[in-house]
Amino acid sequence: MSPFLLTRQLPEDATEAALRADVLHGLTKSPKTLPPKWFYDAVGSELFERITELPEYYPTRAEREILVDRAAEIAAATHARTLVELGSGSSEKTRYVIDALTDLHTYVPVDVSESALTQAGHALIEERPGLHVHALIADFTGRLTLPDTPGPRLVAFLGGTIGNLLPAERADFLAGVRALMAPGDALLLGTDLVKDEGVLVRAYDDAAGVTAAFNKNVLAVVNRELGADFDPGAFDHVALWDARNEWIEMRLRSRVAQTVKVPALDLAVDFAAGEELHTEISAKFRKEGVHAELSAAGLEQSHWWTDREGRFALSLSVAR
Ligand SMILES: C[S@@+](CC[C@H](N)C(=O)[O-])C[C@H]1O[C@@H](n2cnc3c(N)ncnc32)[C@H](O)[C@@H]1O
Repeated sequence: MSPFLLTRQLPEDATEAALRADVLHGLTKSPKTLPPKWFYDAVGSELFERITELPEYYPTRAEREILVDRAAEIAAATHARTLVELGSGSSEKTRYVIDALTDLHTYVPVDVSESALTQAGHALIEERPGLHVHALIADFTGRLTLPDTPGPRLVAFLGGTIGNLLPAERADFLAGVRALMAPGDALLLGTDLVKDEGVLVRAYDDAAGVTAAFNKNVLAVVNRELGADFDPGAFDHVALWDARNEWIEMRLRSRVAQTVKVPALDLAVDFAAGEELHTEISAKFRKEGVHAELSAAGLEQSHWWTDREGRFALSLSVAR
C-alpha cells in the first residue's frame, strides 16, 4: 500500500445530488435550514482553521491541552494500530495521539472536505515516515466502509463536532460508530461543556467577524454549485444560546424582504425582513449526558478528562 491513499466513498455526483436535496428541502420548510456540512468547501475549511485560532474560540485550545496531557494514557489504554478520525479537518491536534501510539500502522482520516484531507494527508506522511494514511472522502452520518487494517482500532471524533448533530441524529451516529468497532476497540470523543452564556456566544460571534464569514460561506457554496443569487451582504450572522436545549444556534438573518433564485432547482425563495435561516447547532454537554448517550450505543466510558478550566471534555469509551 502506498503511504497516502485518498478514496472517495461518495460517488462523484453524490455531493451535488445531496446538496440539491438538502437545499430544496431546507429552503422550502419553516424555519428554513441548511445543514452545516455544506460550510466546508476549501474556503470554508480555511475559515474554520482561522476560527480555531481566535481568542474567543476556546474549544480548540482546551481540547489540545487535554490531548497534550493525556495522549500517553490514551495510547496505553488502547494500543491502537489503526486510528480512524471522523471529521478530521486539518488533523492538527490528532498529531499528539499519533505520536503517542507507538504501534500505529494506519491513520484513516474521514471528511467531506477533499482539500482538508489532501493537505493534512500530505503533511502527515512527510512528518511521519512509515505511517500509512488512507483518507476517505465520506459523510460520517452515512454508512462508512473502513479499509481492512490491523486492530485494535481507535475511532476519534474531536472538536466537539458531535454537537452539530441533533439528539436523535447523535443516537444514530453513535450506533453507526459502534457498528464500525470490534469489542475492545475504543472511541475518543471531544465534547464542549455547558458554561457561561457570554463565553459561549462570543465563541460563535467573534469580534473580527471570522465566524460570520464562515456562516455566510454556505451561501457562496449554494451560489457556486446551484447558480443561486444569494447576496451574503443582505444577511446578518446571528449566534444565540438556547438554554432549554443547551445548544448554540447559528443563523443568517435576512436584512430585508428579498427573493433568492436557485436556478438549478427552478426555485424562488422568499425571505421576509428579519427572517432567519438556521445553519448550525452546537450542542454543549454534561458528563452524565455523554455517559448515557455512549452507554445507549453499547460503549462503556472508561475515562473522562477535562482541561484545567473545565471547559471541554474528552472521553474514552470501549465497545462492549
Ligand atoms: C468543527 S470542524 C472540526 C475539525 C477538527 N476535527 C478539529 O477538531 O479541529 C468539523 C469537520 O468535520 C467535517 N464534516 C462536517 N460534516 C461532515 C460530515 N457529515 N461528514 C464528514 N465530515 C464532515 C468538516 O469538513 C470539518 O473538517
